[in-house]
Amino acid sequence: MERRSFIQILAMLGASAAIPRNAFAFETKQPDAPWLSAYQGVQHDLPVLSLHTEGSWPTELTGTLYRNGPAMMQRAGERYHHWFDGDGMIQKFRINPDEITHQGRFVRTEKFVTEEAAGRFLYPVAGTYRANSLPVANNDSINVANTNIFPIADKLLALWEGGSATEIIPDTLDTGRLISWGEGMQHLPFSAHPIRDQDGSVWNMGSVVYVSPAKVVLYHLSATGKLNKMKLLELDFGGYMHDFAITDEYVVILNSSCVYGEGRTFTDSFSWQPQRASQLIVLSKHDFSVVAQYDIEPSFVFHFAGAYQRGQELVVNLSRYKNADIMLSAMKELLATGYANDCEDATLSQLVVNMQTGKSTLHDTGMALEFPAWDRRQPLAQASTYGVGTSGRSAKLLNDAVVGFNFQQQQQQHYHYGPGYLVEEPQFIAKANSKPGQGWLLHTLFDYQRRRSGLAVLDAQQLSKGPVAMAWTDRAIPLGFHGCFVPAKG
Ligand SMILES: [Fe+2]
Repeated sequence: MERRSFIQILAMLGASAAIPRNAFAFETKQPDAPWLSAYQGVQHDLPVLSLHTEGSWPTELTGTLYRNGPAMMQRAGERYHHWFDGDGMIQKFRINPDEITHQGRFVRTEKFVTEEAAGRFLYPVAGTYRANSLPVANNDSINVANTNIFPIADKLLALWEGGSATEIIPDTLDTGRLISWGEGMQHLPFSAHPIRDQDGSVWNMGSVVYVSPAKVVLYHLSATGKLNKMKLLELDFGGYMHDFAITDEYVVILNSSCVYGEGRTFTDSFSWQPQRASQLIVLSKHDFSVVAQYDIEPSFVFHFAGAYQRGQELVVNLSRYKNADIMLSAMKELLATGYANDCEDATLSQLVVNMQTGKSTLHDTGMALEFPAWDRRQPLAQASTYGVGTSGRSAKLLNDAVVGFNFQQQQQQHYHYGPGYLVEEPQFIAKANSKPGQGWLLHTLFDYQRRRSGLAVLDAQQLSKGPVAMAWTDRAIPLGFHGCFVPAKG
């Protein structure tokens, strides 16, 4: 039955039910906002060069930081207007005690290769309305592989949320094949936020909201990337879904109140529906059966910060937005004008659901925190959640701080770089022979006053002291979404 459903979905995807085609393009004048250079992308691969290091780099940070993000934002005078749209480029920072190097390479997706040869954009994209796009054969015709990069076995996967994972060769950053997890599963969405479990196996989902009824695909993979099981789950409505969480027993997804409907582009097809409760759906890890479903306060969430069970309670940590402005309007406003002043930051929040009574309580810390990271060696109830935040002195959506919050101790930490800097997702990297909770936060940043890009490392338990080491290059590296740190072997 599930296989038949997949085939039905694939037939619909092939029949251009995927992302709607766009009708025209428009240009905007580039405003005087120096941070926008970080969103303009680059036109070519970035060859290997050395960074200038400052401070003392911890020896356990020997390894490679990979990141992914939209980088081809304009071709032949046509510029994308939504940050989601740019073709993905992998940024590779090789960190050794004596040298740190950087290299950037575009992912050679079908779309990128075809458009590179043509010298212009040809296909529809998620957020920019454009004219005369070529027809879409399937989701991977427009896969930009621009959201995350995830290590599995000896491979890296460049991830998007609307189609397949794309294999990347770690040494060269060459693009390998598109990954299909099984017969009849080609081109199915495999989201950008797989979760590695304690046993090394990997959970993921894929949102298929543009068919009726809306669906989500659930995946469980072995540690080496073989499909253990999958399920296609029908949803009550097609809420935007980007990430999820797991506990010891459950997979937890959130069907948000940002609901797919009609529109000129994929993002324009969503509308914020605050009258509609969001749904927290709890699935058994054993067989993906629905254990429970709860109506919760209308929410918009890109990123979860983990979940756990506490007796009869299910505790879910999230970077929660009170509406979907960030995706529906603010990113376009930021790219067009340099400002998105009406957009509220995501705040670190904790949703506690009593699974016996179904009653849910939302605790909002009020602390702006996105791109959450934590020490996975530690029980989540005790762990601090780290992420990017704001000093309150930069324009909205310009994250200029690294922040942390511990729910158990109700304690905040922060280091404010302040105006002039854009701070990106931190990676928590355990210190050598350390206790749980002891580690480094490694993150990229862009200094838009000096137009230089860098790496910084902070002691996670002493954020307020600021970076213990940094590395800089005059090269403007495009901002990205997510990444991973792969320690050096041996
Ligand atoms: Fe994400």
